[in-house]
Amino acid sequence: MATPNQNQPPPPIPVLAVSDETDPRLHSPTVRERQGHVALVIGCGDLPTGYLEFLADALNRPVYYVLGNHADELRRGCCRSEAAKPMGAIDLGGRVVRDPRTGLILAGFPGSPRYGEHEPAQYAEREIWWMIAKMAPRLLWNRLRHGRGLDVLVTHAPPRHVNDREDPAHRGYEALRPFLRWFRPPVHLHGHVHLYDRSLPSEERFEATRVINVFPYKVVELEPFAASAPAPVPAPDRATPRMARRTAPGSASTETP
Ligand SMILES: [Fe+2]
Repeated sequence: MATPNQNQPPPPIPVLAVSDETDPRLHSPTVRERQGHVALVIGCGDLPTGYLEFLADALNRPVYYVLGNHADELRRGCCRSEAAKPMGAIDLGGRVVRDPRTGLILAGFPGSPRYGEHEPAQYAEREIWWMIAKMAPRLLWNRLRHGRGLDVLVTHAPPRHVNDREDPAHRGYEALRPFLRWFRPPVHLHGHVHLYDRSLPSEERFEATRVINVFPYKVVELEPFAASAPAPVPAPDRATPRMARRTAPGSASTETP
């Protein structure tokens, strides 16, 4: 059996990022065959709780997420008044988290800039600044400890003037621009801007960062920036996804949107 070459760089880390709409190509019994190679799943907001739980269950991978700007996002079918976060998934909103298996450092901001009154999932710029201030010590510590502040920024809304729109509901956060300048993550994943026209670009570079609109999903290959090489991703087991058996909307026709 061939031994791995220690001098070779570690392979990229495939990540499945989803946002805003349940995609039948993923919410399907075939998702394990199509996306079983991904190392983790990242939700960029405005997604039903059950969708993220399905992906965690079907792919048997860690799920990280931020909430979107719709206050009714966290509800389960029969209980419209009961908020319910996806079970087993990790909320990145206002937090910095290091994935133990891949070594990737993730941080996130929820919601969108405020454009309506009394909306709990929309935030004023000062509220995002406050989240940044609380995150900064950990990001600076990461620079000292790991050589970089973070690997992936996860948000629902994009930065202002990067992948955003001019209408009030789809403006980006101004505060994310200095955040990206200061902490320079290689990748920023977001949703919120529904990109139905596939001829329009879904990715833009801002400073050192690839800013990627993942709507409705994308598989992104991340460089293994971790100080140590990531542990190999285990092959998915052969059991049929539990929720896939219940929902089974049909098979997918393409690998990525
Ligand atoms: Fe949104």
